[in-house]
Amino acid sequence: MVDEDITIESRLAEQEYFSPPEEFVEQANMADPAVYDRFDEFPEGFEEYAEMLDWDEQWDEVLDDSNPPFYEWFVGGKLNASHNCIDRHLDERKNQTALLWEGEDGEQRNVSYQDLYREVNAMAAALRSMGVEEDDVVTIHLPMVPALPITMLACARIGAPHSVVFAGFSASALANRVDSADSDHVVTIDGYYRRGDFLDHIEKADEAMAAVDGDPEVLAWTRHDEPQVDVSDDYTMVADLLDDHHGETVEPVSRDAEDPLFLMYTSGTTGEPKGCQHRTGGYLAYATGTSKYVEDIKPEDTYWCMADIGWITGHSYIVYGPLALGTTTVMYEGTPDYPHKGRTWDIAEKYDVDIFHTSPTAVRQFMKWGEEELEGYDFDFRHMTTVGEPIQPEAWLWYYKHIGGEDAAIVDTWWQTENGGHLITNLPAIQDMKPGSAGRPAPGIEPAILDDEGNEIGAEAGEAGNLAITRPWPGMLQTVYGNDERFIAEYWERFSDTDSDDSEDWVYEAGDAAVKGTDGYYRILGRLDDVMNVAGHRLGTMELESAVAEVDDVAEAAVAARDDAEKGEVPDVYVTVREGVEESEAVRERIVGAVEDGIGKFARPANVLFVDDLPKTRSGKIMRRLLEDISNDDELGNTSTLADPSVPEEIRDQLRAD
Ligand code: PRX
Repeated sequence: MVDEDITIESRLAEQEYFSPPEEFVEQANMADPAVYDRFDEFPEGFEEYAEMLDWDEQWDEVLDDSNPPFYEWFVGGKLNASHNCIDRHLDERKNQTALLWEGEDGEQRNVSYQDLYREVNAMAAALRSMGVEEDDVVTIHLPMVPALPITMLACARIGAPHSVVFAGFSASALANRVDSADSDHVVTIDGYYRRGDFLDHIEKADEAMAAVDGDPEVLAWTRHDEPQVDVSDDYTMVADLLDDHHGETVEPVSRDAEDPLFLMYTSGTTGEPKGCQHRTGGYLAYATGTSKYVEDIKPEDTYWCMADIGWITGHSYIVYGPLALGTTTVMYEGTPDYPHKGRTWDIAEKYDVDIFHTSPTAVRQFMKWGEEELEGYDFDFRHMTTVGEPIQPEAWLWYYKHIGGEDAAIVDTWWQTENGGHLITNLPAIQDMKPGSAGRPAPGIEPAILDDEGNEIGAEAGEAGNLAITRPWPGMLQTVYGNDERFIAEYWERFSDTDSDDSEDWVYEAGDAAVKGTDGYYRILGRLDDVMNVAGHRLGTMELESAVAEVDDVAEAAVAARDDAEKGEVPDVYVTVREGVEESEAVRERIVGAVEDGIGKFARPANVLFVDDLPKTRSGKIMRRLLEDISNDDELGNTSTLADPSVPEEIRDQLRAD
């Protein structure tokens, strides 16, 4: 049974272990294996993370699990995230750089903790003056510029949950998220740089505002002193507001530990993207604790995570965790290949980066460009992270050797938007590294590999199964914004006894396939559902297909993931056209355009393939897995449930003939 559901077989050969360098272990924030025993005192172990923060009021109870899966963490505690990321550092490191920003055009800004304090206060006052109140959701559609963390922290300061929408997302994706969050305020910018071009970002805001149900206020930052594109008079310029509120201070609002800090939308298996709602206390404690123990961040470090803040990795590991620890966090606006393929190493050298955090996609890209691109740059990482998708041992070894110089510790961190922080990862000074394996569970985390009936598959069996988490943790999402039923349906229903109010009967379903080795290391194999992972971005095939379906010529569309050496997976679109429509290049272009407009350019289909029919089950469900087999030139999986079992072969023949 299990095998049928596992789309990715475990084909990897056993890998050898690599020990962390001795110099790393000697200086590590956490090198004591007893940390695991402390966190196994459940749930009290997690207080170790909460104690890394400043609290206005101490919690009365670590975990209230009386109403699973609606867990409450650090109940009765009060705190403010902006205070924890800024104010509390001022005594000791006011003049230290908090944000070290480099624009793609070479512009540079060192935002000290004192600067950050002043700018966040002024922005908090500005937001209030625009009517933003505690608990109002502010949607932020900003690229990788200092305005983004400043706006997030200003929201946190006044207790307004933010919902950051990745800048690469299109107007319709933005509109959809504004509506879903019922947001009365949207923060945008005139534009930003991408591969040398100044991209007009206001166009997207205009288009989104024309499409939203409500009538939100739009606040616009500018990338330079003056706007570079036309900005509607309906929008309020942030620069004017900041002038008005210059020098004002805003007392951080004391938030209940359980008050939401932010929403982050992510693709689900069905329908609309879901707003993962993260709490203030548990989330911040978990992001901070893992930043300290897993990322090994110290205040004196220069830490660079190449992710975009528009994804969860950037929230936890560019903004909240690193700043709560008082370090210097690097932000880069552009792409790693502009104006040349050594840009990343140039930045690493210039700022003397100690800790480097990236994705397997980026590593594969660096590999493709070749080690020559690294020549002549002088940098020395102590620690390197990978996140977002499984890393092939080959890529891991290249990362270790050519980027790490064989003397950096690597952590392969598995987690999800819903999780708030790393769940499966080694603590780099304690366990040995194993290429292609995320390693052991983080302290206090209890994963299990389950078969489709929910029985645990032991490590001895060495079989792939469903990755599940059997105990709550402070970084977990509170719910799906405004939709508790969907929260239960997406994450809990499958492996939980939903009638029970005993938390032991509730199990979190990750939706990934994984194998547990006899060494206790977990190897993640990929998503089980119809969600693909493009360059580390999780995309629902459902969303992609909806975008394709916007094209009038299309009768029906199915998207399948094609393995891609660089991006991990890329979408192949299989379409049937309406009667009378010619299968032409023009239709292809319309389809590609629809995906770029509906989702974003990063999701551009690799191929648009015209077919006569799609493989469907008798109940009419499209069997995307078979299309995936075709896209990847794999042997066809089980076709016995198809209404017409000959369809996949016909498609294959048709494509070969084309
Ligand atoms: O399939 C897993 C993969 O990315 C999914 C989560 O995507 P998202 O919510 O966008 O968050 C990405 C960054 C936290 C997971 O279900 N994934 C993430 N990290 C790893 C991974 N797969 C293998 N190894 C990882 N280290």
